[in-house]
Amino acid sequence: MPGQALLCMLLTVLLPVANGAGTGKVKISAIFMFGDSMVDPGNNNHRITEAKANFPPYGQDFPGGKATGRFSNGKVPGDMLASRFGVKELLPPYVGNDLELTDLLTGVAFASGGSGYDPFTSVPATATTSTGQLESFLDYKEKLKELVGEEEMTRVVSEGVYFTVMGGNDLVNNYFTFPLRRHQYDLPSYVEFLVSSAVNFTVKLNEMGAKKIGFIGIPPIGCVPSQRKHGSRECDPLRNQAAELFNSKIAKEIDRLNAERHIQDSRFAYGDIYYNVLDLIKRHGHYGFKEVTEGCCGSTVLNAAIFIQYQPACPNVYDYIFWDSFHPTEKAYNIVVDKIFQQSLQYLI
Ligand SMILES: *[C@@H]1O[C@H](CO)[C@@H](O)[C@H](O)[C@H]1NC(C)=O
Repeated sequence: MPGQALLCMLLTVLLPVANGAGTGKVKISAIFMFGDSMVDPGNNNHRITEAKANFPPYGQDFPGGKATGRFSNGKVPGDMLASRFGVKELLPPYVGNDLELTDLLTGVAFASGGSGYDPFTSVPATATTSTGQLESFLDYKEKLKELVGEEEMTRVVSEGVYFTVMGGNDLVNNYFTFPLRRHQYDLPSYVEFLVSSAVNFTVKLNEMGAKKIGFIGIPPIGCVPSQRKHGSRECDPLRNQAAELFNSKIAKEIDRLNAERHIQDSRFAYGDIYYNVLDLIKRHGHYGFKEVTEGCCGSTVLNAAIFIQYQPACPNVYDYIFWDSFHPTEKAYNIVVDKIFQQSLQYLI
């Protein structure tokens, strides 16, 4: 019967979407986030570092207007992804002592502002290195095991979805800022080193029990307000090329890992942030942005983190793609996270 065939077709089309909502047969226990200031919700708060954001004007549009340590005017991608995957509305920092058991069971962020895949990147910012973040994850597993037992801990860890969002600092705040790595590597070999470090990080995370890993690439760092050219305000082409080179190489590596390790029940997905942010910049009018090149809180390298402590609230934030001179606004993050989710991350479910 044609009617039945049509119903069948509709069901085939609709069912995977219904499962994808996170309430279907695929269980997502928790969300875990590794990375830098784009996804750090406050792990650096109690640390002596310039890479922190637990003071106004940060958080001016966060629930309660609270400056939590998130490097934006509101929520950051970890919160948005936790919500997208149907787990919870806010992804808390692991560091700090106010976590309840339910927080631990549904996931935390280990990300630290100023961090990168290169251990040297974390030194000037006194951030937690990518390896240090894996050690925090180990610590988390131990703590959870003590609280709920090994079996339940293993279930939470294996049903979790993991993300890594780093690499921008390795280029912007390390390679292009300090001479050490430039003396050791030309740009293509440094990118190769970063790719190798990022692959090793991802493999180690997988070996520690993470089965579903979303790898987010490097944004168009040449287009953030602090890295644009003085005068013309054009995006810096060299920084963007370096980001693109890293992304094209790591995307292939993530595909390779996915093919090799799929058998062991693991899934890896590469999420593109580069072209999605570039699209916001190019078609800003379409998204209702009026200001593309400047940050709402200023545009020099000193218009971010502790350097804008207690600066007044930034008006008209909805007109801006960038909140400070490095980080997008909550509105920009929301659009980009939605797109990455639809393009690739939903494959992790
Ligand atoms: C990544 O791991 C491989 C294999 O253990 C090692 O040979 C390589 O040096 C590592 N890469 C980096 C950048 O540490």
